[in-house]
Amino acid sequence: MLSEKMQEALNDQINKELWSSYLYLSMSAYFEDRGLPGFANWMKVQAQEEVSHAMKFFNYINDRGGRVILKPIVEVPSEWTDTKAVVEETLNHEKLVSSYINNLVDQAIKEKDHATNNMLQWFVEEQVEEEASVSELLDKVEMTEGKPHVILNIDKELGQRVFVDETKEG
Ligand code: FEO
Repeated sequence: MLSEKMQEALNDQINKELWSSYLYLSMSAYFEDRGLPGFANWMKVQAQEEVSHAMKFFNYINDRGGRVILKPIVEVPSEWTDTKAVVEETLNHEKLVSSYINNLVDQAIKEKDHATNNMLQWFVEEQVEEEASVSELLDKVEMTEGKPHVILNIDKELGQRVFVDETKEG
C-alpha cells in the first residue's frame, strides 16, 4: 500500500513526464517549421518515451492499489532562438527530471517503501542514459557552429531514430 504522500508524489511525477512529452512535441513542431525533419523526428521519439515513462508510473500506482489523479498540463514554450538553444534546454530539462527522480527515491527510502524504491531504480538508470544521449547531441550541434551544412548530416542521422518502449524490456 502506498502512503498518501508517496501516492501524491508519484501522481505529480506522471504530470511532469507528460509535461516533458508536451515540451518535446513542441520542440518537434519547431524543427518541422525550421525544415529539420530529422531533429523533429528525434524530438517526436523523445516525446513518445516520456509518455511511456508516465505510463510506467500510472501502472505502478494502480498495481499498488493506489489512485491515479491526472492534473492539468501547464503550457510549454513554442519558440527558441536556434537549434542549440533547443538542445541545451533539453539537457537542462533532463537534469531537472533526474533531480525529481532522486527526490522520489529519497522519499521511498525515508518511508522504507522498498517496492517503490525498486521501481524507481529503473528511472535512475534511464536518466543516466537520457542525460548522456542529449549531452552527445549537444556536442554534435556545437561542432556545427560556423558549418551550417554539417547540421544537415546530423539531421539525416537523427531521422533514423525509432521509438522502442524500454519500459517493457527487462
Ligand atoms: Fe522521463 Fe526524459 O525523462
